[in-house]
Amino acid sequence: MKFPDTFVWGAAASSYQIEGAACHAGGGLSIWDMLGRQPGRIANGDTGDIACDHYHRYPQDVDLMARIGLQAYRFSVSWPRVLPQGIGAVNQAGLDFYDSLVDALLEKNIDPWITLFHWDFPYDLYCRGGWLNRDSADWFADYTGIVVDRLSDRVSHWCTLNEPQVYIQLGHVEGRHAPGLQMGMREALLAGHHTLLAHGKAVQAIRQNSKQRAWVGATNTGSYYMPDSDREVDIEAARKRNFDFVGRHFFNNTWFADPMLLGRYPEDGVELFAADMPPIAEDDLQTICQPLDYFGANIYFGHYGRAGSDGEFEETDKPDLAHTEMGWPITPEVLYWGPRFYYERYGLPVVITENGMAGADVDDADHIDDEKRIRFHHAYLSALARAVEDGVPCAGYLLWSIMDNFEWAEGYAKRFGLVYVDYASQRRKLKNSAYWYSHVIAGNRLHDDRPLELACAGTEVATGLKRESA
Ligand code: GCO
Repeated sequence: MKFPDTFVWGAAASSYQIEGAACHAGGGLSIWDMLGRQPGRIANGDTGDIACDHYHRYPQDVDLMARIGLQAYRFSVSWPRVLPQGIGAVNQAGLDFYDSLVDALLEKNIDPWITLFHWDFPYDLYCRGGWLNRDSADWFADYTGIVVDRLSDRVSHWCTLNEPQVYIQLGHVEGRHAPGLQMGMREALLAGHHTLLAHGKAVQAIRQNSKQRAWVGATNTGSYYMPDSDREVDIEAARKRNFDFVGRHFFNNTWFADPMLLGRYPEDGVELFAADMPPIAEDDLQTICQPLDYFGANIYFGHYGRAGSDGEFEETDKPDLAHTEMGWPITPEVLYWGPRFYYERYGLPVVITENGMAGADVDDADHIDDEKRIRFHHAYLSALARAVEDGVPCAGYLLWSIMDNFEWAEGYAKRFGLVYVDYASQRRKLKNSAYWYSHVIAGNRLHDDRPLELACAGTEVATGLKRESA
């Protein structure tokens, strides 16, 4: 299956998950540094102190990205690395790092796609109320302006927030993620509202400071529901379930996306949150709803179902589904229905800003045989190709992740990378999936005509890549 000539093939990572903590290099603490110092919070007592030491090893990592043939690399800027206190004095060494990373990428013809916030909130600003403080919107906009002013002569693709659903729900309601709080819904909704204001003001800051045409979006994730047949009644039930508000939580797909793109909170959600709704100033929704160029979607898995007798979605039990090391079901069709339903509702080109799987990868031979990951991405990309064929404007695919990394509360045990990282030695090694992905990128197509086994074998014939010595 061929993809459009304009389709962008890339991979993604984030600052805290790969760089090594900002505070080690003149930056400030983040709330994830704080959480990692609380016993029992991160699996195996892991922290992001070193991670993949990307801060020092980025030249080597960019070389690997070039070997794979990435056209784009989505990374995040660490807010406290640039502004150690979150506001005020700039850590020039922090900005210099991103400046050098951008130059290294461009030297290899890899387009930098920057996410401005991927969860490493400055600890000093957390101590001033964090997202609960309405000033957080201006703090974030000011930080955004500084980064855009420095890098926008070479960077044109921007993402404001990565998954507000997760850092508000898991970080402020369930307490499993930083800052590890279990707020009441009223406070979490206030934090969510301010993070939406931050998104809107950051979009304005990008448009005002960019030195060139900027493509701006945000990255949402959520809960995805798919018809278990091609009956129109099942498709409609799934479409409705994707955007209905069910339950007082932040994984309803409309809570953040509707304000960003439609300029209003979903009415069914407002009714459900009722008295817990935050105070909304007159121009807030106008500030939040800024024109965007793409819809960034992080999609990993979904739920199959059919229309019940009342036409409402009823989930189908699928006990035989394969699962990833995260325990997530492997449901390729979600990369058909997710982009399609998002496009139908919001009318923007869709970028898959994350999709990937955690595998039980081991480096015990010449080749790291992660055939399960190759089959995963082949199946999901086949579904995405069908969405494109059906008229959904999918602009790109940024595979999660370029390298194994710090998987938040799960620590380093969950390996998502195309590149294997031996954390003890910091040695990197391309997995077979990297060779396979290189072949897909080179042809801008899935090689259905080739036995997947050949691609899985990662042979040089299949990929044209010369293997490094073991
Ligand atoms: C997310 C985050 C990533 C995760 C990845 C695997 O989507 O949760 O953006 O940082 O590491 O998705 O869980």
